[in-house]
Amino acid sequence: MNKRPFFSNFLFIVSAALSGIAVANEFEETTFEAGHPSLQKWLLGEMPQPEDNQLTPERVELGKKLFFDPRLSGDKNMSCATCHSPMFGWSDGLPKARGNKGVQLGRASPTVVNTGYNDIQMWDGRKPTLEEQAIGPMRAHDEMNMNLEELFQFLNGNVEYSSLFKKAYPDLPIGEEALGKAIASFERTVVSKDSPFDRWVKGDKTAMTKAQVNGFKVFMNPEKGNCSVCHSAPNFTDNGFHNLGLAAFGKENPDLGRFSERPLKLMKGAFKTPTMRDASLTAPYFHDGSAKTLTEVIEHYQSGGIVKTNISPNFKAAMLSDEEVNDLVDFMLALTTPPENFVLPQLPLEN
Ligand code: HEC
Ligand code: HEC
Repeated sequence: MNKRPFFSNFLFIVSAALSGIAVANEFEETTFEAGHPSLQKWLLGEMPQPEDNQLTPERVELGKKLFFDPRLSGDKNMSCATCHSPMFGWSDGLPKARGNKGVQLGRASPTVVNTGYNDIQMWDGRKPTLEEQAIGPMRAHDEMNMNLEELFQFLNGNVEYSSLFKKAYPDLPIGEEALGKAIASFERTVVSKDSPFDRWVKGDKTAMTKAQVNGFKVFMNPEKGNCSVCHSAPNFTDNGFHNLGLAAFGKENPDLGRFSERPLKLMKGAFKTPTMRDASLTAPYFHDGSAKTLTEVIEHYQSGGIVKTNISPNFKAAMLSDEEVNDLVDFMLALTTPPENFVLPQLPLEN
């Protein structure tokens, strides 16, 4: 018998129990007053930057063009922004993404807002960095379906792109590394950290309504929403994976989520905790798009889960009055940074 999975599960349950206690303490130690020191951990700091890919204006400019350029796809009709569009909170408004030739993919497009703050990417965590993530969708047959050799030929031969690459990455050839780094640099500028909630945390009493402050209490209270056990400070994610008992897990051959990367029983049907920042802009919700609105998301948490097998030990039914549900939704709206006018990039000419 292989003992490791058992031992890991055991550790997981112990750590889940401990994080339950931690959340109870966290709640008791929080003072829900604008600007209070106990709230400051919710503020996002500077965007982390990898040693070998520091942000420069040249890198961001190049990455932005690449992110919006449909010539990065085989049929020249799909860019990263097709599924991660600023018009839909950097997602696509669809329950599940539509890829090459309109084929429906297995999962919803997550937002790229604040992904630079997270230390693991994708619903199942299969990519550690934005740099590594960026190449995947171009190559994937069902997504952008691009032949990378052809792409590098195009980029090398294109007067504007080749000069932009030279300015951004003078020491790198136009290849996978430079491409991934440029796109990641742009993604690190897609940030939400100036929401009414952030301003309230910084001390602006008027930034959140009474209902929103109450919603935040419900969110943190282990006896009520118990949300912060997973949606933790500062980016409203623990960068962890949980099975929430969605209906889809009860179907035949369900999406096993994190289990395909980490074959531990507890990871069966577990998906990454997404950020809640800007969630008001990214409906529908969950990895399968099964909740149409934020209220439907909360209804799921109130149900205690539809499929109970393998549900996360941190998940318990939220006990909320109608008013508390409304306040919690109001609080989630306070996590949206008012979008600035976004200027689309001018794409390089064909030559
Ligand atoms: C056809 C739609 C589609 C296209 C095109 C697409 N993506 Fe995605 N993206 C997705 C889906 C779906 C996921 C989640 C997949 C999964 O977890 O299995 C995802 C995940 C991601 C993530 C991880 C976010 C997180 O929170 O884990 C990033 C970052 C990302 N995409 C960036 C890009 C970039 C950069 C491009 C262009 C090179 C791109 N995407 C093209 C649909 C798309
Ligand atoms: C056990 C950990 C856990 C708890 C507790 C929890 N969440 Fe989540 N949350 C997740 C995970 C994991 C997902 C993604 C699940 C999936 O798609 O399969 C998610 C998804 C969401 C989403 C959808 C985001 C999106 O972009 O699709 C929202 C909104 C949300 N949670 C809000 C809440 C609220 C409000 C509470 C408290 C009532 C809460 N969560 C409690 C782990 C948790």
